[in-house]
Amino acid sequence: MLSTFALLAALAFAAVRGAPSSAATPCTGTIASLDDVDDAVKCTVVNIMSFTVPAGETFNVELADDSVVNMMGDVAFGNQTWDGPLFQISGDNVTFNGNGHTFDGGGPFYWDGQGGNGGVTKPAPMMKIKISGVFTNVRVLNSPERVYSVSNPGPLVMSNLTVDNSAGNEPNSKSDGQPAGHNTDGFDVSTTDLVIEDSTVINQDDCLAINKGSNIVFQRNTCSFGHGISIGSISSGAVVSGIVIQDNNVIENDQAIRIKTDATATNASVSNVTYSGNTASQLRMFGVLIDQSYPDTLGTPGNGVQVSDINFVGSTNTFAVSSDAERVAVNCGEGSCLGTWDWSALVVTGGSAGPINNFSGIEDFSQ
Ligand SMILES: *[C@@H]1O[C@H](CO)[C@@H](O)[C@H](O)[C@H]1NC(C)=O
Ligand SMILES: *[C@@H]1O[C@H](CO)[C@@H](O)[C@H](O)[C@H]1NC(C)=O
Ligand SMILES: *[C@@H]1O[C@H](CO)[C@@H](O)[C@H](O)[C@H]1NC(C)=O
Ligand SMILES: *[C@@H]1O[C@H](CO)[C@@H](O)[C@H](O)[C@H]1NC(C)=O
Ligand SMILES: *[C@@H]1O[C@H](CO)[C@@H](O)[C@H](O)[C@H]1NC(C)=O
Ligand SMILES: *[C@@H]1O[C@H](CO)[C@@H](O)[C@H](O)[C@H]1NC(C)=O
Repeated sequence: MLSTFALLAALAFAAVRGAPSSAATPCTGTIASLDDVDDAVKCTVVNIMSFTVPAGETFNVELADDSVVNMMGDVAFGNQTWDGPLFQISGDNVTFNGNGHTFDGGGPFYWDGQGGNGGVTKPAPMMKIKISGVFTNVRVLNSPERVYSVSNPGPLVMSNLTVDNSAGNEPNSKSDGQPAGHNTDGFDVSTTDLVIEDSTVINQDDCLAINKGSNIVFQRNTCSFGHGISIGSISSGAVVSGIVIQDNNVIENDQAIRIKTDATATNASVSNVTYSGNTASQLRMFGVLIDQSYPDTLGTPGNGVQVSDINFVGSTNTFAVSSDAERVAVNCGEGSCLGTWDWSALVVTGGSAGPINNFSGIEDFSQ
């Protein structure tokens, strides 16, 4: 129940802001079940208590502008084969503080080694983030498939997050000897003005995948066991530019850095990507892979995606690959990798040299 004072204050606040429909009342709302959500999001402060979301339903939080959200306990999701998402949050200038609490996706219930390619339908993405502002201190445990899908309506900083799908590294009775978790991307991003920092991802697919967008910074993160830090796959019409990937640590992934463009894509581009101060060890397949033949790896490349200004500069990037891995492989279509690329701050050790196809613009690097 709102006091008259609170209501008047809210109306006055709304009038000043000139956006009555989106301003919240100065009160604290509490969510301890899905039934509480509609009332709680009318308040400027929303506290999420520990509860289990019923199977087959999205925990959907549509916030007023400038809201503050605090997790006060862990949230679990009932197990059911369906599309998801499990959690979705939207709003402008939101401060979301997980206080280290956990969203438990129930992964082992779904995992069959096939991810999105077959087997049971899995909720994906698990976490749909559509806020601007800050999203911090959240732990995700055992996502059924892909974890974060980010489409922020304004500048957003995501920090100090943990994705722990380490249990998915082990095979189970349904995965035919393969890791049970599959397609468990950490962050899938098609957006602008995003920073992801100081986070940890333990998974079985891309740590970060940028499909399109600009002004994206990925820094000081740790990625373990997955497919590295990726741009792509890039499909027709996609534009990626202004990307900074720095000071991350990649451990036991397929590769540290990958740019993959669809062989059949047209009218697309990747430009102005800067890698600085990243380290990687025990890479299973490549140190750096830039490949225009996706979904094939080092197959026949297409040339409909222009790739330019891909630079390893600033602090040295130091990657160590396994003995049967290739240090650097670049597979360009004819005339679609352009200009000169400064790779003076890249050192890759171990393994053997990979191919450099259809491009001679890499400067200050030899493998
Ligand atoms: C964003 O929200 C905070 C409250 O969390 C508020 O103090 C601040 O003024 C808001 N910023 C803008 C630009 O509206
Ligand atoms: C990051 O999260 C951890 C675990 O919840 C917490 O102890 C730490 O204070 C957080 N760091 C910051 C800078 O918020
Ligand atoms: C869903 O199943 C997984 C795996 O059996 C289990 O860890 C998790 O606790 C279950 N979730 C709920 C809400 O019961
Ligand atoms: C090329 O891609 C841009 C988006 O980047 C789109 O606006 C445009 O319509 C596309 N052109 C063609 C011919 O498909
Ligand atoms: C390249 O990207 C950086 C970082 O986003 C940006 O500051 C810079 O202006 C961009 N350079 C060009 C030529 O667009
Ligand atoms: C160069 O690119 C063309 C496609 O643009 C491709 O057919 C050819 O195989 C490529 N050459 C090499 C050596 O990969």
